[in-house]
Amino acid sequence: MNRKTTGSMLLALIAMTIGATACQSAPVPEADPEASVKGTMTVNMNDKLKISDTMFGIFFEDINYGADGGLYAELVANRDFECTPADARGWSSKKFWAVDGGNMKFDIATSDPIHANNPHYGVISVDGVGPRLLNEGFGGFRYEKGADYDFSMFARQQGEKPVKIEVGLLSDTGAVLASKTITVDSKKWDKVSLSLTANAGNSTADACGKFYLKPLTAGSAVAVDMVSLFPKDTFKGRKNGLRKDLAQTLADLKPQFVRFPGGCVAHGNSWQDDCYYWKDSVGSLEERKPIKNRWGYHQTRGLGYFEYFQFCEDIGAYALPIITVGVDCQFTGGQQAVPMDQMGRIVQDALDLVEFANGGTDTKWGALRAKMGHAKPFGLKYIGLGNEEQITDAFEQRFKMVNDALVAKYPDIVVVGTVGPGASGRDYDRGWKFARQEKLPIVDEHFYMNPNWFVESAQHRYDNYDRTGPKVYAGEYAAHAQGNPRPNTIETALDEAIFLTGVERNGDVVVMSSYAPLLGKHGNMQWTPNMIYFSNTKIDKTTTYEVQKLFGANAGTNYLKNKLDFGSALDRRQTLKVAASAVQTRDGDTVLKYVNTLDQAVSISVTLDNGKGIPASAKRTVLTGPSFTGKEYTLTDNYIKLGEKFTVNLPAHSMTVIRF
Ligand code: AHR
Repeated sequence: MNRKTTGSMLLALIAMTIGATACQSAPVPEADPEASVKGTMTVNMNDKLKISDTMFGIFFEDINYGADGGLYAELVANRDFECTPADARGWSSKKFWAVDGGNMKFDIATSDPIHANNPHYGVISVDGVGPRLLNEGFGGFRYEKGADYDFSMFARQQGEKPVKIEVGLLSDTGAVLASKTITVDSKKWDKVSLSLTANAGNSTADACGKFYLKPLTAGSAVAVDMVSLFPKDTFKGRKNGLRKDLAQTLADLKPQFVRFPGGCVAHGNSWQDDCYYWKDSVGSLEERKPIKNRWGYHQTRGLGYFEYFQFCEDIGAYALPIITVGVDCQFTGGQQAVPMDQMGRIVQDALDLVEFANGGTDTKWGALRAKMGHAKPFGLKYIGLGNEEQITDAFEQRFKMVNDALVAKYPDIVVVGTVGPGASGRDYDRGWKFARQEKLPIVDEHFYMNPNWFVESAQHRYDNYDRTGPKVYAGEYAAHAQGNPRPNTIETALDEAIFLTGVERNGDVVVMSSYAPLLGKHGNMQWTPNMIYFSNTKIDKTTTYEVQKLFGANAGTNYLKNKLDFGSALDRRQTLKVAASAVQTRDGDTVLKYVNTLDQAVSISVTLDNGKGIPASAKRTVLTGPSFTGKEYTLTDNYIKLGEKFTVNLPAHSMTVIRF
């Protein structure tokens, strides 16, 4: 078996496959399946259309526990004791903490906190030795045998006695997996830290381990805050970093940009309450301002703007921050707007974000970035103003203030506007009119629609878009099939793939796209479908993930003009169910993508016009599944015989990628 074949088998093994993978050691011409529909495709290898290098990105929002309890690797839940009933009904500063084993007083105090942005902290007092303060984590703690964990907290002795504390990791059965002691001997807040190595892993797949603090000094009291436990092994080894397996799963998509922090989180339900003001998400962790999450939980913002920019840099993606223009969500009782006399702050925030990302270390915000560990500018190029707000007079007035100030001070920043939450309608029409009037470079369109819409309407949506006005960012989209929860199926993914062939074909006008939402934690979902599901121990990729990866990893910089023809073999509606695109990558590779959503195989005779140096064979990847409406899928990697003319067979319900 050659190396390529081994590679293909590996790909099949790591994918969530259910079928056997076909591996060929030598490419053979395609046998023409008798029952297939026959078509032709001509690709003109010389007729190229320049397309955007930011075509396929990811949309990251802290929804479905995407950040805290998800991508952000912090394991302690409510580490800051700042959970409140505003986060979710019944929550309080004690949420996720519990006393175990007897006589321990566990209070919440607020006098003389570490920082005004973090007013609450815990105080534990014991008469004797034995009781422990347990943290439940985000649905438990996942510990791995031999892995190191970095513990830290702020602590202050509350009485006259220094306090010895045992810090430990517990398995789901209550066994101590690691423990060490520290002494708190300061009457002022002091940061203490140590590292623990787990002597065993959790014994169940769900990883319901716990974490504890156990005072070892009888008759003592101690104040604790920012109680933190991180796996040492984060993505790229970053301190205060990201969960390695999840971050890698995102990196594997080869996203060209990362949108953050939303979605609705960007403007919140209310500008006064839960809007994501970026300045509250930077600086040392204890200074950051936790807020209620717009989706009904607590946001520490430990994964804040610095960590976001750093992640983009780590994976070679552009950042696309979405910031408020001073109007909030239209879906929560109507739009509220920041009073005009307070808009100065909103405008200044936008300008300062650019300074934080790109400014010299002699500037206020550039200096903070350097202090946080990144003296070099991040090279921010794009900023989104607003997220699907209702397009009203209030919106337009405020948008213009922010946009004008940004353009005047930073003419190189590319501003992305918004045209409301739908694929059409009042906000869409008014948003587009406004965007043209303001000569915005790009606008953000959103559409969560039924699968068929992606085939019948979205596929050719951009063919006739105006080429002279603002470009398009298809910023939030997903095919929503019936169901509760709404499923990711072969059908939804392939219909999205058909839409994406239209995006590539129109890559001169659609310059960015991102599926939404990205992450959903099992048992903590506010929205379905999502691209990736996960628990504390595993990651479940979906059919949508595989489609996004096939497009992201095979993105082009030129579109090759082509024509797919079925003559009378298919009627108009059936023709819409088979799509193709052809691109040339930055490295000069040619990629042909085919999507077949018909119930039968399709055989295509391909002619590569003006092709030079076409190799004798090419790698072919096929995504398909046993049921169109099911979520199981297979990914098969093999080789196809090539030439100026060749035949490719597309199985029913499949996506095929050929790269050479
Ligand atoms: O993607 C989920 C939500 O859908 C986003 O937060 C919002 O922008 C849209 O309505």
